[in-house]
Amino acid sequence: MDFNSKEARAKRLEWFQYDRFGMFIHWGLYAIPARGEWVRYYEGIDDEHYEPYFHEFNPIHYDPRQWARIAKAAGMKYAVLTAKHHDGFCLFDSKYTDFKSTNTPCGKDLVREFLDAFRAEGLKVGLYYSLLDWHHPDYPDFDGIIHTKEWRAAHPRTGFDTYLTYMHNQIEELLTGYGKLDIMWFDYSYGEMRGEKWGASKIVEMVRKYQPDLLMDDRLEGAGGSVGSIATADPLPYSGDFMCPECLVPFECPRNETGEPIPWESGMTLNDHWGYASADNNYKTACDVVRDLSDCVSKNGNFILNVGPDALGRIPAQAARILGEVGEWLQINGDSIYGCCMAENMQYHDFGRYTKKGNKLYLHLYEKTNRPVRLAGILDRIERIRLLRDGSEVALLDPNSFHGPIYKQFPGDAFFFFGGRSEELPDPWDTVFEITLKAD
Ligand code: GLC
Repeated sequence: MDFNSKEARAKRLEWFQYDRFGMFIHWGLYAIPARGEWVRYYEGIDDEHYEPYFHEFNPIHYDPRQWARIAKAAGMKYAVLTAKHHDGFCLFDSKYTDFKSTNTPCGKDLVREFLDAFRAEGLKVGLYYSLLDWHHPDYPDFDGIIHTKEWRAAHPRTGFDTYLTYMHNQIEELLTGYGKLDIMWFDYSYGEMRGEKWGASKIVEMVRKYQPDLLMDDRLEGAGGSVGSIATADPLPYSGDFMCPECLVPFECPRNETGEPIPWESGMTLNDHWGYASADNNYKTACDVVRDLSDCVSKNGNFILNVGPDALGRIPAQAARILGEVGEWLQINGDSIYGCCMAENMQYHDFGRYTKKGNKLYLHLYEKTNRPVRLAGILDRIERIRLLRDGSEVALLDPNSFHGPIYKQFPGDAFFFFGGRSEELPDPWDTVFEITLKAD
């Protein structure tokens, strides 16, 4: 089977592009200093000063079923957990390192418990694995930043191949020891460190051997702000299945060099950090999240929203509350997200976005307007319009009414009035109109 063919890629992506909305979970020792997952690097915390967190780590409130329930109630359909982040700490019981959760006071294989709990709630599951490693002595680059001279003298390098073998072994452990995984999220490439430097062909061979349906992100070649061969007409086998712009929603659906849409997923923090940051209260609102989500889908993309559980294992209450509100909106308006894609040539609307599923076109109105809402170019194709939240009729403006003649100047466009001057939209963040189109 040619795993790299267009057909095979499209098939693998089917569930993903249906589900659209996922939860990212960044969690590890860095939840204790609580200043984000890059704290060790940014603050130059050397090995001796990071080690205490390892001896302390004991998330007594870790209850992944509770996390899974929060994700599910938010309308999320999949979740990706950091099995190892850049600090090298493993949340799984790897036989290739001692630097793992089972050796902390916590004593648990946190990855296994996460996978069991999320699968039990019917969610798809993925693991994030950092290509960078600030802990492994054979990973280049971090002397003087986090490895002191003394530490280096006591841990002489044996060569990058030693690290590669370690990394490949761990990836194999994850691919073989934890049941069916739906996503592997490798992170990330930079400078010379990309593609075959990681032994990418070998990684993708393992992936396909053990987990033929698994989706991979594109960071064996790229990063949040750069993209590899997935944007070319002939993506390499390790190009990954989807692009992953970070903390932004692109202006348009990204396309490859021949103009075809590239599958993508925008990864977004809920505040300004991925890992837990106790002083960071700069949370996005549920309105921001809902609009980002519908914006992504209107451009054919997915949205994976992050939470950073704290040192004791809890998803911060404020994050959980925001997710709950998002879930309430999705309960009512989910038909305009799940299974939906971009409406060709109709992403933007003056006051919102469009999404599409079969003969249903969904208008997501973000703003109230006193003017009639204009549906450009589809007058002849409209069978009916209903408010998605309650099925109520939305009548098109009658061309024979008092204002009608003005709108006759725009042949082919349809118009409707919605709400009065002072009324709020029924879903002020995003009110969805379901436009049923006539068969072509
Ligand atoms: C970046 C960061 C990282 C985060 C990730 C999520 O590559 O290094 O901390 O895990 O993006 O997209």
